[in-house]
Amino acid sequence: MVESNNKLPKDFLWGFATASFQIEGSTNVDGRGPSIWDEFSRTPGKTLDGKDGDHATESYRLWREDIALLKQYGVKSYRFSLSWSRIIPLGGREDPVNEKGIQWYKDFIDELIKNGIIPFVTLYHWDLPQGLHDRYGGWLNKAEIVKDYERYARVCFEAFGDKVKYWLTMNEPWCISVLGYGRGVFAPGHGKPNGPGDASREAWIVGQNVVLAHASAVKAYREEYKPTQGGVIGITLNGDWQMPWDDTPENIAAAQHALDFAIGWFADPIYLGHYPPYMREVLGDRLPEYSDEEIKLVKGSSDFYGMNTYTTNLARAGGDDEFQGLVDYTFTRPDGTQLGTQAHCAWLQDYPDGFRDLLSYLYKRYKMPIYVTENGFAVKDENDMPVDQLLADKDRVRYYEGTTRALLAAINEDGVDVRSYFPWSFLDNFEWADGYTTRFGVTYVNYETQERIPKDSGKFLVKVRRQYDSVN
Ligand code: NOJ
Repeated sequence: MVESNNKLPKDFLWGFATASFQIEGSTNVDGRGPSIWDEFSRTPGKTLDGKDGDHATESYRLWREDIALLKQYGVKSYRFSLSWSRIIPLGGREDPVNEKGIQWYKDFIDELIKNGIIPFVTLYHWDLPQGLHDRYGGWLNKAEIVKDYERYARVCFEAFGDKVKYWLTMNEPWCISVLGYGRGVFAPGHGKPNGPGDASREAWIVGQNVVLAHASAVKAYREEYKPTQGGVIGITLNGDWQMPWDDTPENIAAAQHALDFAIGWFADPIYLGHYPPYMREVLGDRLPEYSDEEIKLVKGSSDFYGMNTYTTNLARAGGDDEFQGLVDYTFTRPDGTQLGTQAHCAWLQDYPDGFRDLLSYLYKRYKMPIYVTENGFAVKDENDMPVDQLLADKDRVRYYEGTTRALLAAINEDGVDVRSYFPWSFLDNFEWADGYTTRFGVTYVNYETQERIPKDSGKFLVKVRRQYDSVN
């Protein structure tokens, strides 16, 4: 529980996060066009349970219920994403805008505001219009995608910017690039082991194009919309804390190398104006250069650091995975013990000290206010449990006890300027390649009936928020 000498800043945004493709369903409604995740998830073998996003949590249909529940949770803010292919079904800068899609999001935003909930909006959470991928290769084509994304962003600023004051351009460029174009496990499924494309190059190209698209949208916002609309805009990066496996110099260096590849790849150009030198050392000319003009656009292109984080890795030198900077990740300490409680996903264990250390590291290195835009835990085998057991999600409660305590310590003891905390996720939802087999929600969703029931973790987070209210 939060100690009473701990405080959160006055305008701290406490809420939950989701993303369009993971919750909306209604993929053929009101003129929405197809996205790369429709196509990918419908391809046999791409999701663990063979399921797609056609229904998800039906939030396109059940949005009023969702907002009522958010209100019941007492959130101050809600982070959600816009579906590009609802707004511009074919995606491109010459393609028509879909007024029905715009109207849906307008109504949604109005209803949030009516209920006292501040919208925190992600423009791109992985559901690229399929048309852009088919037409010119989507994220691989710098000249086209940067312009098309910028136009999409402008349409959104124009339509929603009078009400939306917090914008995220991109969610997790590392996942877009590496999982979509390097490892082929996310849409569009390029890269090793079975996908098309050159896995040794594409992810690095896509990473740069995503950053350039982000930066172009930010420039447009700052020059043309911010003066009258007055919001903030930035990017959100995934990245977990990396701890040396032991205190040998090579493993201490390995932890920094892992951070360079996971975070520095994007954050260093955006906040410092160049790539981490270690990336160039490993990748040589496969890492595309930013031209002088491009880096001028990119440097300083985020008003804050958007942080999505879930776990801590123990880093060991000598790995062979380039996407991890040739660093081996493990959760097993030298003495054979585990770092923390294992989640349902192999990549996630509970280690709250890492959350605090990562906040300090980012604040020192990039010197920006930090918005925590995702943080969460998937309980092992939760999907197979009887509902009453699933609602008593002890491991998730323990996880949030740890991270909220770490959050308060980072703010009050370490002096980190943190401005939001958005646990992932408001609802159980479509967990990408895992389909519906993995649950991250603080709210249980029965996918047959679409009933939503708060889990103990949801109730716990309400309690923490109330306690925070009472000390402010
Ligand atoms: C990061 C992503 O932004 C989100 O879409 C995903 O569901 C969570 N992490 C959990 O894996």
